[in-house]
Amino acid sequence: MTANTIEHNRQRQQFVGVDSVWLFGYGSLIYKVDFPFLERRPASITGWTRRFWQGSHDHRGTVDAPGRVVTLVEQPGAECRGMAYRVSPSVFEHLDEREKNGYLRFTTTLTFDTNERAEGLVYIATRDNSAFLGPADDQSIARQIAGATGPSGPNREYLLRLAEALRALGDEDAHVFAIEKHLHRHLA
Ligand code: SIN
Repeated sequence: MTANTIEHNRQRQQFVGVDSVWLFGYGSLIYKVDFPFLERRPASITGWTRRFWQGSHDHRGTVDAPGRVVTLVEQPGAECRGMAYRVSPSVFEHLDEREKNGYLRFTTTLTFDTNERAEGLVYIATRDNSAFLGPADDQSIARQIAGATGPSGPNREYLLRLAEALRALGDEDAHVFAIEKHLHRHLA
C-alpha cells in the first residue's frame, strides 16, 4: 500500500447521518490537539500495544532521514491507554491529512475509566504500508529519533511529549519509557 492513505480513509467510513464519533488517540493525538472536539476522556483499548515502528517522512523526519513515530501492533491481552475525543465527522478531513503517512482508520471498542464502553475509531499504520519500519532495539530507535527532524519539529520532541503525556495519564509504557531513557543518555 502507498504511504498516502487519504483516499483509502475516505472510502472506509462514510459517516452518513452520524453527528459525532469517538476517536482514540495513543500517540501525538494525545498531546497535540489541533482539532475541535465535543468531549475528551481518558480511555484504553485492548489487544493492541504502542510501538515506535512507523517511519515519519512528513512530520518528524524527511525522506532521506525518516523519524520514528508510534503505531499499534496486535498483542493478545495487551492494554493501550490513551485519550478519547468525541468529534464531529467533519474533523476527519483534517485528521486524514495529518495522519496520511500510512495510517488507516479502524473501528475499535474504547473503555473509559468509568468502565463504560463505546465504539470508536483509531488510526493504525499497519505493516503493509510503505513507511512501516518495524522493530529495532530501543537504543537504535532512540538514536534514530535523536537524529531526525521534519516539518513538525524534532523527532525527539514527539517522544518526550508523548512520554510526558503518558505519565500524566498514569500509564506505565515500558517501550516508550525505555526509548526515552536511551534518548536522554544519547543526548547527555
Ligand atoms: C495517534 O496519536 O493516535 C496516532 C499516531 C500519531 O499521530 O502519533
